[in-house]
Amino acid sequence: MQYGADYNPDQWPEEVWDEDVRLMREAGVTVVSLGIFAWSRLQPAEDVWDFAWLDRVLDTLHAGGIAVNLATATASPPPWVSATYPDTLPADESGASYWPGSRQHFAPSSPTYRRLAGELVRRLAERYVGHPAVVLWHVGNEYGCHLWMDFSDAARDAYRGWLRARYVEVDALNEAWGTTFWSQRYGSFDEIFPPRLAPYSHNPSSMLDWRRFTSDMLLECYLMEREILLAAGATQPITTNFMGPFKPADYRRWAPHMDVIADDCYPDPANPHRVRDAAFQRDLVRSLKPGTPWILMEQATDAVNWRPANPGKAPGVLAAESAQSIGRGADGIMFFQWRQSRAGSEKFHSAMLPHTGTDTRVWREVSALGERLAALPALPAPGRDARVALVFDWENWWALEERDHPVDIEYLPIVVAWYGALHRLGIPVDIVPAEQIDDGYDLVLAPALYLLRAEGAAALTTFVGGGGTLLAGPFTDVVDEHDQFRPGGFLTQLGPVLGVRFEDFAALGRSSGGAMGVGALSVVDTGGEAETVRFDLDGVTVTGSLHAEVVHPVGAQVVSTFADGRSAGAPAVTRHRSGAGEAWYVATMPDADGVAALTAMLVEASGARPLVPDLPAGVEVARRGDVVTLINHTDAGVQLTLTGTDLESGVDADTWALTPQQVVFVRVPASAPHPPAPTQNRTHP
Ligand code: GAL
Repeated sequence: MQYGADYNPDQWPEEVWDEDVRLMREAGVTVVSLGIFAWSRLQPAEDVWDFAWLDRVLDTLHAGGIAVNLATATASPPPWVSATYPDTLPADESGASYWPGSRQHFAPSSPTYRRLAGELVRRLAERYVGHPAVVLWHVGNEYGCHLWMDFSDAARDAYRGWLRARYVEVDALNEAWGTTFWSQRYGSFDEIFPPRLAPYSHNPSSMLDWRRFTSDMLLECYLMEREILLAAGATQPITTNFMGPFKPADYRRWAPHMDVIADDCYPDPANPHRVRDAAFQRDLVRSLKPGTPWILMEQATDAVNWRPANPGKAPGVLAAESAQSIGRGADGIMFFQWRQSRAGSEKFHSAMLPHTGTDTRVWREVSALGERLAALPALPAPGRDARVALVFDWENWWALEERDHPVDIEYLPIVVAWYGALHRLGIPVDIVPAEQIDDGYDLVLAPALYLLRAEGAAALTTFVGGGGTLLAGPFTDVVDEHDQFRPGGFLTQLGPVLGVRFEDFAALGRSSGGAMGVGALSVVDTGGEAETVRFDLDGVTVTGSLHAEVVHPVGAQVVSTFADGRSAGAPAVTRHRSGAGEAWYVATMPDADGVAALTAMLVEASGARPLVPDLPAGVEVARRGDVVTLINHTDAGVQLTLTGTDLESGVDADTWALTPQQVVFVRVPASAPHPPAPTQNRTHP
């Protein structure tokens, strides 16, 4: 288990470095991410290079037994780059430049940026590939974090090249984008621009490609640096730090190029759903490279500086949130940053070593965690522990949140709501695209799969045919990979499995307030209440929102019908036996109670089982191999039933009493707590 933080010794006089290493050892630090923002120190002018200080830092760390995750330092170009090469600067939608003075002020597709960054990486790589302290390479930093869309001329040129490579013939693009609409037909790739400021909505198919392109430009920057590192002979693993469910970058496409997945996660202490949301993020990054541990590359020890209000973490939360990552597959726990900065935008951000020193609660918690992790026995790799999958897909996210739909929908709250119901029950879940669904799962939830590729539909169909249970939510199977309707209506691929025929989306409006027209097709939202509908589920009155779709059963059994609204009497929930499995459809977005009730029914129908029975609220359970992590996130003591051995103390028990924020790692017998194979549910006797 690695333990450490970002380390920015360039912000401090050299006298501090020895003390840093001494205190790192005291805190149990094993590794630091070094020099992430050090470009201006390494190359103070175009033809001036200074590696001597970095040599000394690396040697000092190595002598102290601290390993290094060496950064390529390309995330914040020095002022001379911006002043000499304005073509490295990104532009906004209107063409206005972003300027230096902060960080990430580079156009990812700028050839000049890439040339300069590439040269820095080459020199760093050639100098340090063989340094014994370097165990990992940290490429860039949080690609796209602040700026993920660049509309500059460099982006324009790269976009044209990217489209040319994708479509070869411009008429193939015309077809994919449906450009006969509104006279958008292109005569050549050179007529295409990024979606800069326009009078009204951009072509949605073009926006989907633009999203793919912007994600790919960031990925190209990463890949360029990776290639340089490999060419220089780097044998250490290479990574960059992800940001969980980060919309601009399709991490699914990045993951194969990462030797180890690294993720930054900053749960908001004021968020009542903090534990659920962070668990979702950790399961998502774990699912990016199934079967391999990942690294929590950054978290805060206490408060951050970048929210409007920045409360600190309650005592014990630091360890509990770290354990959440470990339980969900992390083999490294790291922070931003080692020593709190004295200057700059992040001087109020917490660190392992606070500005107020070591006689602090943060330091004591940091050191206690370091000591505990150092003694923790090795954990098994996270394997195929989950029998439930939640379908999550970046392209779908992008297309779903485009404008001009029956109703505006936010994707993340929907998938996280369904994840939350499983999390509450303590049921392990993988978060994967539809194409990755196979018969290793018992239950698959696809709550909002607007863009459904043929391969994904085929995988879901095979899954149900083979005995799996599928839930599809509203606004699913609507468009193809170009954001175009498929011929023949909606639910054209999943309809037969679901046993329903789709008639109408029946979007729900706003019951009061509404919108005021200011010009043709322009609106000012005056913020009325969203319209809802009701239906009954096992005695629970559920409220539905967004849609109350009109679907007709074609073989499906109607579980519940809409009780009110324009779709009253139409099925709200259906279930359909198909092959050896079963497919459910819910024609609206249920409220939290509805999601919980439906999840319980699906869990029952599919044979998926919780890791421990009757999990108390606020208590978390996660599994990696034969180790189950129990975390009490509440302020009260709790008792849990689980047969196993405390990994740290060696004590055997069947029940576990956990104090507030307490964490226990329990090794369970190989057969438990997975339920007996749920074959009886697979045949639907
Ligand atoms: C991350 C970033 C770090 C630091 C941190 C503060 O987004 O990678 O460099 O800024 O946030 O929370």
